[in-house]
Amino acid sequence: MMTTTEVQITNPATPGTSLFTPLRLGPLGIENRIVMAPLTRNRAGPGNVPRTMNVEYYAQRASAGLIITEATQVSPQGVGYPGTPGIHSDEQVAGWRRVTDAVHGRGGRIFLQLWHVGRISHPSLQPGGALPVAPSAIRPEGETFTEDGLRPFVTPRALETDEIPGVIEQFRAAAANAHEAGFDGVEVHAANGYLLDQFLRDHSNRRSDAYGGSLENRVRLLLEVTEAVAGVWGAEGVGVRLSPINTFNSMWDSRPRVTFPYVAGRLKDLGLAYLHVVETDMVGSASAPAFDADEMRSAFGGTYMANGGYDNERAAAAVASGAADLVAFGAPFIANPDLVERFAGKAPLNTPDQATFYGGDERGYTDYPFLDETETLRQ
Ligand code: PHB
Repeated sequence: MMTTTEVQITNPATPGTSLFTPLRLGPLGIENRIVMAPLTRNRAGPGNVPRTMNVEYYAQRASAGLIITEATQVSPQGVGYPGTPGIHSDEQVAGWRRVTDAVHGRGGRIFLQLWHVGRISHPSLQPGGALPVAPSAIRPEGETFTEDGLRPFVTPRALETDEIPGVIEQFRAAAANAHEAGFDGVEVHAANGYLLDQFLRDHSNRRSDAYGGSLENRVRLLLEVTEAVAGVWGAEGVGVRLSPINTFNSMWDSRPRVTFPYVAGRLKDLGLAYLHVVETDMVGSASAPAFDADEMRSAFGGTYMANGGYDNERAAAAVASGAADLVAFGAPFIANPDLVERFAGKAPLNTPDQATFYGGDERGYTDYPFLDETETLRQ
């Protein structure tokens, strides 16, 4: 079971620390501080099972210090988009086993991101055409992707208090499946407007039971989920992702600079592998609140992974100054399977093609050239 209280020792940013300085992450040695961020690509096979092109995609990116998989649903209820993988069936576990074997075969490390979308779903994606579940019956603005194209969000059903243990169990069982599939750890997705984030922020959580109202109550589900997952993995095999100021998915908190350092402070005591923070607003809304990474980092006190629009230079500066221990890159990793080598040699980067981010085939997925291929083409 979980051993708490021991506060994780941050890997100190000794002078000369670079993106290429190895790092200890719980029991794992990480070769460099360049992390592949979780990226939804909507290319899983039937039954939300990882397939051969997914194996190739992750294997190509194995030189990342750590890969965090695309968000992966913990249960049929957790599904929010077509073509996203799950980790709740035997077939999905077997599909992911092929991915972890391929990444490990190339010397890589890989965590699975555990995901329940909550209200960011649609009856057409839910078992029995049910309403999506959420902390409160508040409809997100706008439309969502379904098998039949864009459809307006529906008003979700508020979870009953006695359903909460079942939600925690979905995460625990999925974490056990991730262990069986050969991952090196798991990341609890509590960011970007999905279920756990919906509980954290006061605009989406209007509950009056033990899971809503006060800050202490709003963080309860995340802590209980994280403890359940740590019961499977040990806390040192578990990271958590937060996004304090991201307004994506109709998210808002009235006091993010109080809420999120508090959340980070509560997570501190668990001794997690890392805290992963989306530092930006993904939709670039003019009304996004201010953010202070230092407040999050010092409240958490352990290994801090920064994410959000970093390039080689800014990431190197963050790691050198101790502002971050690890930096996760999204779009650059889509377009550059050998991003680590390119950063090391300050080589030019391929440009990501937004049109092929979500769904489709190998094009824009496994066909971005490696540096040596580009050089061969130039000769
Ligand atoms: C997306 O599908 O746009 C998406 C999924 C998961 C995230 C963020 C965005 O955390």
